[in-house]
Amino acid sequence: MSHDPKAPCDKALHYAELVNDPRVEKARALLLEALESHRSKITAVRPPNPDLVAVYQAELDRLAKARGGATYFPYISSGLGNGPLIELGDGSVKLDFIVGIGVHGMGHSNPKMLSATIDAALEDTVMQGNLQHDSASLWMCEKLIGLAGLQGAQLDHCLLSTSGAMANENSLKIAFHNRAPAQRVICIDNCFAGRSIALASLTDRPAYRTGVPKALDVDYLPMYHPSDPQGTTQGAIRTLKHLLERYPGQHACLWLELVAGEGGYYPGTKEYFETLCQMCHDHNVLVIFDEVQTFSRLSRPFAFQHFGLDRFADIVTLGKITQVCATLYGQVLKPKGPLLSQTFTAATAAIRAGLSVLDHLDQSNCFGDDGWNMQRHRYFRAKLEGLATKYPDKLSGPYGEGMMIAFTPGDGSSATASAMLGKLYELGLMGFVAGSNPTRLRFLPPPGVTTNAHIDMACQIIEQALQSL
Ligand SMILES: Cc1ncc(COP(=O)(O)O)c(C=O)c1O
Repeated sequence: MSHDPKAPCDKALHYAELVNDPRVEKARALLLEALESHRSKITAVRPPNPDLVAVYQAELDRLAKARGGATYFPYISSGLGNGPLIELGDGSVKLDFIVGIGVHGMGHSNPKMLSATIDAALEDTVMQGNLQHDSASLWMCEKLIGLAGLQGAQLDHCLLSTSGAMANENSLKIAFHNRAPAQRVICIDNCFAGRSIALASLTDRPAYRTGVPKALDVDYLPMYHPSDPQGTTQGAIRTLKHLLERYPGQHACLWLELVAGEGGYYPGTKEYFETLCQMCHDHNVLVIFDEVQTFSRLSRPFAFQHFGLDRFADIVTLGKITQVCATLYGQVLKPKGPLLSQTFTAATAAIRAGLSVLDHLDQSNCFGDDGWNMQRHRYFRAKLEGLATKYPDKLSGPYGEGMMIAFTPGDGSSATASAMLGKLYELGLMGFVAGSNPTRLRFLPPPGVTTNAHIDMACQIIEQALQSL
């Protein structure tokens, strides 16, 4: 399937003449050449430039005032990076192993993404929507449907949207619509689904819905825990059985993250998920997999493929790394009536950039049991295990799966995690917190471009931070 912007255009179209105009190719070549010569200077972390510190701080203060609060990190990008390295407005360079919580799948200032957004800039439509698609929307939908069906999942349709929360809203709408009048949702303890009012009811963080009315009836199952595989799996089965008996016919769906993301990088197991999904299917309860954080980070494009759960994938949501979010669902669930529509599905630049990420991941050998994602995971894991042995009181773990990896600093308190995160940032490594009791530090290295040398760089900084705490 071609994503070449020139491919679908009938040569008779004026638009085809525009994108094939030799001046456009010349401009593209010049922009790519300029990008290369400047981004290639960014090769290692470095501290702020003292001459820029005051002006940068003033900008951060203005940002905090405008948005009603300081940003988590004192981070304003300069606009240029190189792979996982990003230059900030104070002249510092950070090794960005969190990439906006999983967004920069090909790292920063990637030439393929620049080229894709040049195509988007030539396109009249800035934001695509239900009344204004261009071919890129078609390519993206077909690409995602194709990837989702690689191991047999029946996901025939794809609805694009601007956020993971909106993709999840659409998934729940499809589930409720198809299982009406069932109104309850089943989730797992510790889950995170997004920030809309409905999703705040679902997300297992009471602090995220303070003062917000409850929008959904949600029941929670115990999370799988590797310290007690049998006990936690049996506990979840018992709870699910009890819920299905207590509320017969009232659950529309089981909504699952296969690796709890915000919850602390807890993957379940095939057996755990398979049992719960089968019980739900046996009771006519649909299964939704939220892949907003997991997509393209494990051994297969989708985590449900990694865990071999394809036959349960009724509805799937994804986002972040794809630059545009999406809800995939089977033909049998197609809503009857005008349930799903959006003025804006995504920016043209986002869709085209997302396609370039997907092409790159395909071409880079990221997937497979011994693909890059799993190789990098094993390498990072071994290095963190080495640090855990060397500093047993200061680091435990690692945890996670594929290119989602975490460790617990010290006593697991949120204060220790924040202190460690701050120290890492100061030394040049960006990660983020996840979960509570214990609070972990997590990393989402960009799958398409992270090398073992970047992981070495990260582990050196982690060790420096451990020594100083
Ligand atoms: C698993 C999961 N679902 C949904 C979301 C919400 O996505 P967004 O912030 O794009 O609305 C997130 C965001 O972190 C997520 O990790």
